[in-house]
Amino acid sequence: MTRNEMTHGHLTHDEVVELDHQYLMQTGKRLPVTFVRGEGVHLYDDRGKEYLDLMAGIAVNILGHCHPAVVEAVVEQSRQLIHTSGLYYQHNAALLARRLVQLAFPSRVFLNNSGAESNEVAIKIARKWGKRNRDGAYEIISALGSFHGRTLATIAATGQEKYQKPFAPMPDGFVHVPYDDLDAIKAATNERTVAVMLEPIMGEIGIIVPSPDYLKGVRQWCDEQNLLLILDEIQTGMGRTGRWFAHQLVGVEPDIMTLAKALGGGLPIGACLAKPRADVLEPGDHGTTFGGNPVVTAAALATIDVVEREHLLEHVVEVGDLLQAALEDLGQTDARGIGMMRAFTFAEARAKDYQVKAMEAGVIVNAVDDYSIRVEPPLILSANDVDQAAELLKKALP
Ligand SMILES: Cc1ncc(COP(=O)(O)O)c(C=O)c1O
Repeated sequence: MTRNEMTHGHLTHDEVVELDHQYLMQTGKRLPVTFVRGEGVHLYDDRGKEYLDLMAGIAVNILGHCHPAVVEAVVEQSRQLIHTSGLYYQHNAALLARRLVQLAFPSRVFLNNSGAESNEVAIKIARKWGKRNRDGAYEIISALGSFHGRTLATIAATGQEKYQKPFAPMPDGFVHVPYDDLDAIKAATNERTVAVMLEPIMGEIGIIVPSPDYLKGVRQWCDEQNLLLILDEIQTGMGRTGRWFAHQLVGVEPDIMTLAKALGGGLPIGACLAKPRADVLEPGDHGTTFGGNPVVTAAALATIDVVEREHLLEHVVEVGDLLQAALEDLGQTDARGIGMMRAFTFAEARAKDYQVKAMEAGVIVNAVDDYSIRVEPPLILSANDVDQAAELLKKALP
């Protein structure tokens, strides 16, 4: 393959870095690589080097890179109609909403463009519901260490001070309690409380799986106290745990569920599902220009089709176990997770360094902090890919 075919462009990595630093806001630290092509579980940089991608664009590309079904759906739809807005009825959006409800629980759907936006919808629903049903209650209890997005309301919901501090004061109405601690939720509940908002498995902080009864207990408490249960399935949803949604692993249904990331198979789309009890938004209450446009909804429908047709949920359970074994075999501590969301922890602060070494070895992982490494590969990862991953991950160890 020629260099031009590989790059689809004309800039070297160094030139991209220079432009990036000059013209893009420097809001995050990038790893020293420019990917120019992806195919299946592999990424390729501007020099043609191949990488086994165990991060899938932060739990997004569940079918791997440029899956033909997604590409075709996007191309075909783009030839016909790209954007109209929420002012008009939209074919694919209606189909996708029905599909999501069939996969999840009886509910109605708001489609938008990202995870943070989906959680904003959930928060707005909770507040409106509180006015109607709980005498103006508006406080949402969420977990310390959680991650719900980067808008002002969603960093307020996020239980990590580092994301809030530069932007204080935070919007009012968010209370944080330790994760996997039902008593803490009970103790934080008062007449102002309207909802509990949780990730069924914590993602961003390093794949924290709560005890099996936690969500059941929270559901029961919400029922007893007449509170809404909001589950943020933005990272856990769309098959990553071996079920369509992680709450299905424990048989607990939320009143509101938020999705994004993997929903569009790589295209930007988010969704908020609300059960009839929480379906309180009315005309004028919320809106989005792009949300759920014909192209991204076509991609989402194609993605769901492939997950079903190729029995990827069963595959995730099977290969997820192999992935777990491979991580345990690395000999570090606390190899953990469910399905294809996994992590392990170093005894010393070497995760950031390891992430770079792994990349040099040809495998993409993510350091969630100084100690822990997370992997969230495409769901199509094969047993052979896991063998290759194990080899590369070992090679990157000190
Ligand atoms: C659980 C969870 N909620 C919300 C978000 C925010 O999603 P987005 O970056 O699409 O706004 C993320 C992103 O990492 C997430 O993992």
